Amino acid sequence: MACVMRPGSAPALDSYLNSLSREERSRIEVHKLDVTNIHHIEQVAKDIGETYGRVDGLFNVAGVLGDKETTPGPEMNLSQLDQKWAEDQMAVNAIGPMMLTAKLAGLLKARKGRNNYLRSTGARESIVVNLSARVASIDDNQGGLAWYTYRMSKAALNAGVRASSHELRRQGTWTVALYPGMTDTAMSKPFQSEAMREKGLVFPVEFTVGRLMDVVDRMEEENTGGFYDWAGQAIPF
Ligand SMILES: NC(=O)c1ccc[n+]([C@@H]2O[C@H](COP(=O)([O-])OP(=O)(O)OC[C@H]3O[C@@H](n4cnc5c(N)ncnc54)[C@H](OP(=O)(O)O)[C@@H]3O)[C@@H](O)[C@H]2O)c1
Repeated sequence: MACVMRPGSAPALDSYLNSLSREERSRIEVHKLDVTNIHHIEQVAKDIGETYGRVDGLFNVAGVLGDKETTPGPEMNLSQLDQKWAEDQMAVNAIGPMMLTAKLAGLLKARKGRNNYLRSTGARESIVVNLSARVASIDDNQGGLAWYTYRMSKAALNAGVRASSHELRRQGTWTVALYPGMTDTAMSKPFQSEAMREKGLVFPVEFTVGRLMDVVDRMEEENTGGFYDWAGQAIPF
């Protein structure tokens, strides 16, 4: 199930769907979801519950950074801090993914009691993957770009991931925050330079997705609640 804010205006998703065979296409549902809208979240949870009764993996990918030209962020100094922008970033980058996790937690339940797993095929555990950012690391922040509200909102997401990991672990659900690396998407476009591209510092989307799926595939219970980059290296909180 792919969830998008405005179905029909997600060109990458649409071209992917158009490339599929009829049989493959029939296995993918597209739902409307604004992660800041609790009614949308509850509707998605209800629809999945009624149709499938379970969720094996939740990928929280939606995020906002801004472009500095048409938005107040990402901020370069304190004077650029804008309350509404700060609240919106929190809503999309931190509260939205945590509300989705909360509303889907029952469907993600993979274990009943200590050893009674509910899934008989593939991975026994279910997963929640949250896309975060290296700049969210408080420990790693030794100066450079201010980017206040983006850093704050992703650090809040990371805190939510660690906090929820204890409760989710008891039901057989693992959760992580992953940094995809600088990837060639609409979000990073305003911050890419020719030099970065020449040095291979901007990853093609397919590369990033492949690396992130490798990290997810190699995940063990000890990784739940952690913060990792695209190569599986731990990032300090
Ligand atoms: N690209 C990078 O270099 C990079 C680096 C570090 C972390 N990340 C993180 O990776 C994730 C994916 O980013 P990306 O590079 O793919 O950025 P992107 O191309 O800007 O995609 C972000 C997506 O989030 C959607 N979105 C925004 N607000 C939403 C809402 N309220 N409800 C539902 N969807 C919403 C956007 O929808 P619309 O297009 O309809 O607005 C867009 O499709 C983000 O969480 C980002 O913070 C990316």
